[in-house]
Formats: sequence, structure tokens, C-alpha cells
Amino acid sequence: MKVLLVGSGGREHALAWAMLKSPKLTKLYAAPGNAGIAAVAECLDISAEDLDGLCDAVKTLEINFVVIGPEAPLVAGLADRIDAMGIPVFGPSAAAAELEGSKGMMKDLLAKYGIPTAAYQRFDEPDSAKEYIRIKNKPVVVKADGLAAGKGVILSHSVNEAYAAVDQIMIEEAFGDAGQEIVIEEFLIGEEASYFALCDGVRAIPLAGAQDHKQVHDGDHGPNTGGMGAYTPAPILDEAMEKRVMDEIITPTVEAMAKEGKPYKGVLFAGLMIGEDGPKVIEFNCRFGDPECQPIMARLKSDALEMLLAAAEGKLDKIKLKWDPRTALTVVMAAEGYPGNYIKGSEIKGVADADAMQGVEVFHAGTILGKDGSLLANGGRVLGVTALGDTVKEAQQRAYQAVDKIDWPKGFCRRDIGWRAVGR
Ligand code: AMP
Ligand code: GLY
Repeated sequence: MKVLLVGSGGREHALAWAMLKSPKLTKLYAAPGNAGIAAVAECLDISAEDLDGLCDAVKTLEINFVVIGPEAPLVAGLADRIDAMGIPVFGPSAAAAELEGSKGMMKDLLAKYGIPTAAYQRFDEPDSAKEYIRIKNKPVVVKADGLAAGKGVILSHSVNEAYAAVDQIMIEEAFGDAGQEIVIEEFLIGEEASYFALCDGVRAIPLAGAQDHKQVHDGDHGPNTGGMGAYTPAPILDEAMEKRVMDEIITPTVEAMAKEGKPYKGVLFAGLMIGEDGPKVIEFNCRFGDPECQPIMARLKSDALEMLLAAAEGKLDKIKLKWDPRTALTVVMAAEGYPGNYIKGSEIKGVADADAMQGVEVFHAGTILGKDGSLLANGGRVLGVTALGDTVKEAQQRAYQAVDKIDWPKGFCRRDIGWRAVGR
């Protein structure tokens, strides 16, 4: 099979690495890819958001299967266009990707089908939003309806903070068009975890639970990022909780989407709050998490290409997944300044030494090769150092041993990835 992988992050490097082990794969292309992906695939100079360019490449290169990593092309309808060409594609249609692309649509669906989530209301103008906040008189979360690159959510501890959040999103348009509509919801209490399931339009099969670390500094301090590290499985999602998540959230959502005429295919990534009365949905994403995908792929023992294809072709009933029983943990190395302004082009050494360690994989995110073949930082999140261990503590120790082999004076990482699970 000739496969085209769309995206350029650590998530896509992990997907490439996993699919390369498949005997079914004859040729892997990536658009646009990164330096790590370029070592194992042919990278095309086409952006993940250039739908015309991607469709042309699928035709010219006679691609047999397309795997879409990021949310933006999914929400823009790339899967629909590939599907219309008669080629199997991993990733939901635009209508199904609205689970991530429109928080209001997602909340309405969950409410209609009684799937547990925070109480909410939708607004398309600020005055009634503020009236609701005033009457509620409790901490609330204010969310821009549309895609805002992982931002667009403001936790408000007081009525005044919530008013300011409404102004920021609807009047100052801090998240652009994404904030034309908002959702205001109840503040949930508990511990956050993520759950990933594969869906084929009709059914869902479990993949894994994971936890990430959104804040930039140790101890969960500082501004939010795309994720500074992750591990899987997550001890809080034990077998019993995993079953509840599948039975109470994932399966009902896939069935609801089918009933609504928007069958959901691809990976369903549920952001959950695990509280006293069980799991509730904070958000859905229509793609693998980054960095969560990296440790999940590190544990997958089955044929990843076969697995993704079965989801695309509605054949997940034929698939039984095998997992490495160990824990996998990823530490993200980022460029100094991230998530604010950071400088591109600093040199990174020692990646091969880290990669050569037993049970370690270094996945690339924002990397590029310099003219002399040196490895250069080319983004905010740059590497995902991933290690397996018999316990989460061992995976953590090994990941940091690998991190310490990497010589990158202009990079940094958190030193406490996995602290919740290690403490448990
Ligand atoms: P989201 O982009 O919807 O995942 O929101 C970003 C972060 O805001 C989440 O990871 C949570 O930490 C927090 N958050 C979102 N919604 C709620 C909620 N209803 N209650 C408490 N925290 C929330
Ligand atoms: N790591 C969180 C995300 O991919 O959205």
C-alpha cells in the first residue's frame, strides 16, 4: 500500500514509525512531515491545510490510503474529499469532526443523548451571556465555539472574570471567528484524563487512557501549551473506569453520531473529568492527541496500518489489538520561550544517542535538517522523548536518562512528567 500521512508533528512521526512496521506498507509519503519523518518517508512540500494540493498528490502518486493527523484539515473537509475520490481515509468527515470543531454542536449532541458532560448554555451575543453569568453567580468556564488551536477556553473563578472572558472572546475577538458563538458551562471538579477509542462509523473499540501535562512548568505552573508530556496507560483509568468510559461515553457518542447521519470514523479522543459521580466529557477531539499519540504508538504491538485501515473501512469488528503491558511516557522538549515567542534554528545534538537506548524512541515534532545535515529546531514543541518501563516510575527515569543525552542548550523540558501516576 502506498500511504499518505498528513501532518508534521510528533503525533505524525509516531504514526509513521508505527505504520513502517507493517508488511502491508510499500511506500510512505508525508505532507509536509518533519526531519524525523523525512528519515523514514518521502516528505512532500504541501501544507496540511492545502486541501487541493493534497488531493492532487493523492491522484498523481496513486495513493491507496490517507491518514490525516491534525484537526484543521479534518474540520475543513479533507476526509470527505479523499472519500469522494474512492480512496480509504483515516479521519472523520467534516460533519463528524464538528465534535471538535463546534463545542456548541458537541454539547447539544451530548445533551440530546444524555451523555454525561458539564451543564451549559450557548450564546451568540454578549448581553444574554452576561445575564446568564449574573444569575448563575458561580464559577463558570467560557469557551469559544470554534477551533482555536487548543486555546479558546477561559476558566473564570468569579462573575467579573467571566464577564471579562465574554468580552475577550466576543468583543475583542481574541480567538477570531472561533468566538462568534460561545458556550458557558459549569466548572467541573475532579481529575482530568484522556481516553482514546477507534471508531469505524458503527462501532468503537478501546485504545487506551492517557494523561498529559498542559502547563509549561513543573508542578503544573505557567501558561497552557499543546502538551509538555504524557503517559499511558493512566492509573486513574483502571479497567472498571475504562469500561464506564466506553459504556457511558464513547459507545453512546458513536451511536448518536450514526443516528444523526454523521457516522464517526477515526480516533475519538475524549477529554474527561473524573469526579465523584464518574467520568464527564470536557471536550472531544477528532484526532490523536499530541503528545499522547507517541506513548500510545510505543505500546501498540498490532499492525498499526491494518488497524487504521480497518477503522476507515468499517471493519473494526475484525480487529483485536495487542499491547505492550508496560507503561510508556513521553517528555516533550521545547524551544526556549515556548508557548510564547521562541527562536527557530538552534542546533540539537545527541538525538541518536538517546534513540539508541533500549526501550526509547525519540519522536520529532518541530525539527528540520540544516544545509550541513545538522538537526535544527523549527517549532515550539520540538522532540518527544518516549520510553517504556515496567512501572510509570521506570518509564519516567528512562525517559529522563534519554533526555539527558540530548545536547540542546536552547531547549527545555518539564522534569516531572508523570508525577500524578508516580504518586498514586
Ligand atoms: P478544552 O480545550 O475544552 O479541553 O479546555 C481546556 C482545559 O480547560 C481543560 O483541559 C480543562 O483543564 C479546563 N476545562 C475545560 N472545561 C472545563 C470545565 N467545565 N470544568 C473545569 N475545567 C474545565
Ligand atoms: N495534548 C492535547 C491535545 O493534543 O489536544
